[in-house]
Amino acid sequence: MGNTKILIFGSSGQVGSELRHKLACLGQIAAVEYPRVDFSQPDSIRESVRVSEPAVIVNAAAYTAVDKAESEPELAMAVNGIAPGVIAEEAKRLGSIMVHFSTDYVFDGTKPGPYLETDSPNPLSVYGKTKLAGDQAIAAVGCESLILRTSWVYGARGNNCMLTMLRLAEERDELRIVDDQHGAPTSSECIAQATADILAQILPPAKGGLEGRSGIYHLTNAGETTWFGFAKAFLARRTEADGTAAPNLVAIKASQYPRPAKRPANSRLSCQRVQETFGVRMPHWEDALSLVLETMRRGTRQNSVKG
Ligand SMILES: NC(=O)c1ccc[n+]([C@@H]2O[C@H](COP(=O)([O-])OP(=O)(O)OC[C@H]3O[C@@H](n4cnc5c(N)ncnc54)[C@H](OP(=O)(O)O)[C@@H]3O)[C@@H](O)[C@H]2O)c1
Repeated sequence: MGNTKILIFGSSGQVGSELRHKLACLGQIAAVEYPRVDFSQPDSIRESVRVSEPAVIVNAAAYTAVDKAESEPELAMAVNGIAPGVIAEEAKRLGSIMVHFSTDYVFDGTKPGPYLETDSPNPLSVYGKTKLAGDQAIAAVGCESLILRTSWVYGARGNNCMLTMLRLAEERDELRIVDDQHGAPTSSECIAQATADILAQILPPAKGGLEGRSGIYHLTNAGETTWFGFAKAFLARRTEADGTAAPNLVAIKASQYPRPAKRPANSRLSCQRVQETFGVRMPHWEDALSLVLETMRRGTRQNSVKG
């Protein structure tokens, strides 16, 4: 482990909890969680940074309740739009590197192919607008930064669509799932591993920082599917593993499942830039899914041994 001080915000979340493990070999981790730091209070962010004086600040905290954000736009903007700019100011003052996570929801989904980092954003939801404001606030400060835009995050723990659908599959004989939104389910563990791989290339002792590589990078698991395709895959794996019968799956259109926030029909992000710049190749989403399901099975086995 090096002496580099790495401050993580949002370490109780899906991505943040994986980062805590994956970055531990790179330096000394300081993790400050809500409510000790409250992103709606800029002074509490400044204080957390000033106390630890980190060389790297990794921000995995966000207001992620996409539908609720429609009725809480001020809070969502404070956490997602304003707080990242405050962190960026602190990073610039210290000469630190900031790593931040953003989303496919900054795009409107009307492009026929995968989105590039240079494509114009046009968010459809309050959440997307606030996340875009965060990206722009960081860019405006001009600190050394990596903004990693990802999509459809899930993992063995936390709040995510896969765990919700697995729970519903226990309770219902039939699940109706959207089949006209396209994207890449991305495991929180893969995001954290890729972040660690990138940081290992730029942190001391051997390395000299970002050297002109600051900016936005798309970072998702490879391949693509729909929510229906994703659900079909993890329910089939569950049946293979333990014989649990899958409920009947019905493919529906997003318009048949109206929600407060509009989602893009196309969430596909091209990850060529992160591959070319840092040599990061994310696994295919189906391989990542196998790893996540294996982690869940190991967790269940360990709990039953302990119990
Ligand atoms: N989830 C997705 O599908 C998805 C897709 C694309 C991009 N992203 C982006 O990826 C990043 C990580 O997402 P995630 O899924 O890991 O999020 P998550 O599981 O919802 O975790 C969010 C974290 O932010 C913290 N937080 C919330 N409000 C806060 C506040 N006011 N002050 C300080 N901390 C606060 C939470 O603390 P508590 O646990 O105490 O609430 C939690 O630690 C975010 O930037 C998100 O926008 C997510």
